[in-house]
Amino acid sequence: MSDRSPGGKRVLLAGSTGYVGRYAVAELAARGYRVRALTRSAERLGEAGPFDAPAVRDRCDEVAVAEVTDRSSLAPAVEGVEAVVSSVGISRQRDGLTFDQVDHRANRNLVEASREAGVGKFVYVSLWDPAAVAGLEIVRAHEKVVQALGESGLAHTIVRPSGYFSDMGVLLDMARRGRSFVIGDGSNRMNPIHGADVARVCADAIDSTEPEIGAGGPDVFTQREAAELAFAVLGREPRITEVPIWLCRGLARGIGLLNRQFGDLADFLVTAGQVEAVAPAVGRRRLRAYFEELNAAS
Ligand SMILES: NC(=O)c1ccc[n+]([C@@H]2O[C@H](COP(=O)([O-])OP(=O)(O)OC[C@H]3O[C@@H](n4cnc5c(N)ncnc54)[C@H](OP(=O)(O)O)[C@@H]3O)[C@@H](O)[C@H]2O)c1
Repeated sequence: MSDRSPGGKRVLLAGSTGYVGRYAVAELAARGYRVRALTRSAERLGEAGPFDAPAVRDRCDEVAVAEVTDRSSLAPAVEGVEAVVSSVGISRQRDGLTFDQVDHRANRNLVEASREAGVGKFVYVSLWDPAAVAGLEIVRAHEKVVQALGESGLAHTIVRPSGYFSDMGVLLDMARRGRSFVIGDGSNRMNPIHGADVARVCADAIDSTEPEIGAGGPDVFTQREAAELAFAVLGREPRITEVPIWLCRGLARGIGLLNRQFGDLADFLVTAGQVEAVAPAVGRRRLRAYFEELNAAS
């Protein structure tokens, strides 16, 4: 590890190469924290991430290279930090690991290592309204971490975001190809949030006494309205096809027979496409502007 920054509280950011993690590194650095990034790859911190997420190597004061799934590698990473922020989880990784191995056990390793090191605050990124999506593997995994934090005696705040803008990019991709598909009738409502806004909430959470903070974007859309917005940004007439829930469920089940983790992920996507996900509107960035930026960059 190299240390090159004066002053400020030292914060460990776990998940620093991810969508939310990159914005969180940038936000914490801008606020004057000394940021220690926990990653499997220092090199990737220097590259921009997908969905416009920034390169952040030069915003980090220290880099701790460790494998969060390996409990024994974490002691040096948490040593001397006043707070830990974790956005570790599986979104797009194809490592063959499961939600239980990463979202649950790896984060639990971090909780235990933080408790042993006497960390003052743990901020954990989970999901909005777990009761509405209970039973899914990803939700079970996240909520086991929430439970472990409750039992750990560590001061902590759970950040509960609705869907991310990074997941909305697929709507623009479908609109570019000329047809968008919605799950069911597309009438379920959501208020997705930009990674930079989630990062702001995570940074605020470090000094918050709130046990949980919900985090949604400024605009509420039905699934269909979000799909229409993507067409509008491209200046095209919307062509939207409803895919019946039974068909989506069947596809998810078929995927699950071939690969359990992909099946769990498909199950999550199908369920997320049915339930309401409207969290407190703390985000400032708008989905239309995000689509316009992605479109301009392509
Ligand atoms: N997508 C949504 O709409 C949504 C909504 C609410 C909450 N969430 C939750 O928010 C969290 C952050 O999401 P995100 O989109 O920022 O995720 P992401 O882009 O996939 O980033 C996740 C981070 O976890 C790390 N990670 C994953 N597997 C790992 C492993 N085996 N060992 C070490 N590190 C590992 C990744 O490191 P590598 O880069 O090295 O793989 C990455 O830095 C997740 O827990 C997700 O479930 C997501």
